[in-house]
Amino acid sequence: MVISENQIRKGDAEARVPKTLQIAIDGPAGAGKSTVAKKIADALEYLYIDTGAMYRAATWLVVQKGISFDDSDQVVKAVADSKIELRPGHDEEKILVFVNGEEVTKLIRSQNITKLVSKLAAIGAVREQLVNQQRHLALAGGVVLDGRDIGTVVLPDANVKIFLTASPAVRAKRRLKELQAAGENPDYDTLLKDIIERDQMDTNREIAPLRMADDAVLILSDKMSVDEVVAHIIKLCS
Ligand code: DC
Repeated sequence: MVISENQIRKGDAEARVPKTLQIAIDGPAGAGKSTVAKKIADALEYLYIDTGAMYRAATWLVVQKGISFDDSDQVVKAVADSKIELRPGHDEEKILVFVNGEEVTKLIRSQNITKLVSKLAAIGAVREQLVNQQRHLALAGGVVLDGRDIGTVVLPDANVKIFLTASPAVRAKRRLKELQAAGENPDYDTLLKDIIERDQMDTNREIAPLRMADDAVLILSDKMSVDEVVAHIIKLCS
């Protein structure tokens, strides 16, 4: 097997990364956070915690129970009474998401849940519960978390903070490809509109809005490949 210099250098950078860092990756929808976070977790043998999946799972539960998102007391109670779990998966699906023991990994990616999740994420008492769970999972370090408020709220003392973003058009194109690969047939303009709307809701909500932490490193990924972003972040960790 021929090993390129590139690979040797990449291996060196990974070897220099301590085993117990907390890596926080925030940014808007479709910036490539989860793809990047999974690859970093793989390379460093870290635990990947997809916090968006937790908000999605809670949203799925509320829809399933037929509760209105305007009835925040009921929403909070439903989430408090439920068990949301992230379990290690396999090659195709690195993380499996469960709600009260039922696997919902694929179901939480539907366009309907994607549309509704910002409503749930705007409820403070729901966020409190999920944030506590996220802090608990991250306690021992050796973790990569991606979300909107990891560097600002969940782990303000994270060792490495990244704000990963891309222009709305690039993000919509990426989402289109992802959904097409999953067998859906979405319309580009609708996706773009949804992304802009979701950015606005996530950025303007009162509690834990999407914003870059003062000590985060900004990465604009429009013209970068996934591997370039991953390599850049691993370098920042070592
Ligand atoms: O990353 P994602 O698209 O799977 O996230 C789904 C939604 O959850 C997104 O609209 C914002 C919300 N979210 C949040 O408010 N805080 C987080 N830490 C992660 C996600």
